[in-house]
Amino acid sequence: MAGRGRLVPCACLGLFGVLCWVWVSFASFPDDQHPLEALDALERGAFQPQSALLGMEFASIGPYRGPGNKDRRNNKELPILLWWSGGLFPHFPGDSERIDCATSSCLVTSNRKVQLYKRTASIIFYGTDFRAYEAPLPRLRHQTWALFHEESPMNNYILSHGPGIRLFNYTATFRRESDYPLTLQWLPSLDYLLEPVVVSLEEKNRLRREGLGPVLYMQSHCDVPSDRNRYVQELMKYIQVDSYGKCLNNKPLPAHLEDTATATGEEANFMNFVARYKFHLALENGLCPDYMTEKLWRPLHQGCVPVYRGSAVVADWMPNDHSAIIVDNFPSPKALGEFLKHLDENDGEYAKYIEFKNPSRITNPRLLEALETREWGVNDMSKPNYLNGFECYVCDQENARLSAERAFRKAPKKNQQPQSKMANNSHMGCPLPSPGYGNVKDLPADDGWLQIWPQDYWQSLDQAEGLESLIRQNESDPSLLWKHIQNIAVSRARGKH
Ligand SMILES: *[C@@H]1O[C@H](CO)[C@@H](O)[C@H](O)[C@H]1NC(C)=O
Ligand SMILES: *[C@@H]1O[C@H](CO)[C@@H](O)[C@H](O)[C@H]1NC(C)=O
Ligand SMILES: *[C@@H]1O[C@H](CO)[C@@H](O)[C@H](O)[C@H]1NC(C)=O
Repeated sequence: MAGRGRLVPCACLGLFGVLCWVWVSFASFPDDQHPLEALDALERGAFQPQSALLGMEFASIGPYRGPGNKDRRNNKELPILLWWSGGLFPHFPGDSERIDCATSSCLVTSNRKVQLYKRTASIIFYGTDFRAYEAPLPRLRHQTWALFHEESPMNNYILSHGPGIRLFNYTATFRRESDYPLTLQWLPSLDYLLEPVVVSLEEKNRLRREGLGPVLYMQSHCDVPSDRNRYVQELMKYIQVDSYGKCLNNKPLPAHLEDTATATGEEANFMNFVARYKFHLALENGLCPDYMTEKLWRPLHQGCVPVYRGSAVVADWMPNDHSAIIVDNFPSPKALGEFLKHLDENDGEYAKYIEFKNPSRITNPRLLEALETREWGVNDMSKPNYLNGFECYVCDQENARLSAERAFRKAPKKNQQPQSKMANNSHMGCPLPSPGYGNVKDLPADDGWLQIWPQDYWQSLDQAEGLESLIRQNESDPSLLWKHIQNIAVSRARGKH
């Protein structure tokens, strides 16, 4: 999804005429912020196994009927699911389609004219594009909201606050606790991990003697909530880090790599270039439990050792307990630097990190089971993609809810009212961004990171609370958001909130 960081209408809060806020939404900064520059093109194309969203040919999905689906209703009787986010409708061509899922069928559409229809059972949102000031209002009691958000937490911090995530009844996020988890979305398969080491340790040592650094850093998006540069800058004092991207650049990218702007998939020249390094700094742009991307899986695939920061519980998904180096296990960049040096000088110790390439060494039952049981595929046309998978999950859930409600209305004594279902912070809940190194109290007031991310996080909370208030008061105009936020601030100032 393209960069959409924007200045939203300035909301001046005249609290006694003194306080004035300028509202800047940084809500949507994917990692590839400057699409025209070569390195970013690499980031988008060559660096990433394609996600189902980027590369999927939706036209190629033939009619499919789940094995348990005996739904013979005609289209006019089916519940409707409305995709609210303009850019995302996983069907082609046209703006409406019948879907026949595992146990039931629905009509799906991106046509907003059905928003207030009685038959419209659920509205599906794409997290990165979700804006409180564009929400479908009034929110009707019979309609559920479903959230699809596989991207970075930094793209929309509204979803990381209780009042934001609780607006949704169903979720598909990177967190294992979400209803339709996408945790391993960047890991195509077990075979991808078991691929033989690309550059042998002998060859890596030879390259080291020629002056290649032990550690690779390649990043072009520098101002991110995880503040990774600040950490790397400190680490560079203790170990040689070769940095080719825009961030902390200290080496030119070879000309033959700059030329891959149109490449897709994992471009071979690039892959061979990075595979020569013993260690890859694998630092996510945002920190959140279970947020793991290709930055982590690619070095494992190539037989390089990821030095990782992102999900604090990343160890839960590693091939074994000795395959990644976790930054947060070290008290300081100095301690990490010294440890990497030690491994660099001890082949036997380094080799232990690659032992998982032997199939019997992938011992993590959680990883094995998740790959075995997930119903969607990555780059695998024989399996549904997770976008259509989630749509079907919502369809089946809604049909089950509707029939339980009908049964209850018919015979309230014999049947239970269906339980309501709501997401909570365990479905997203990413923490307040903190500096990549050091203490927030010690940062100068004009520090670039400080001026962006903590504010973005708290302003997102204001938006979430504002939207909650709009819904509670049955407003139909979402642009009243700013007024509701102001009212909340005023009543808070008066000690009433
Ligand atoms: C959906 O979530 C809302 C809260 O955001 C809740 O009020 C409503 O009862 C839920 N609906 C169902 C059907 O669970
Ligand atoms: C949050 O949601 C999860 C899973 O949907 C559920 O198991 C858990 O009980 C919920 N937690 C709270 C505090 O409601
Ligand atoms: C909420 O607003 C809608 C349309 O503006 C109206 O049809 C509906 O009756 C209202 N509901 C309540 C509970 O006030």
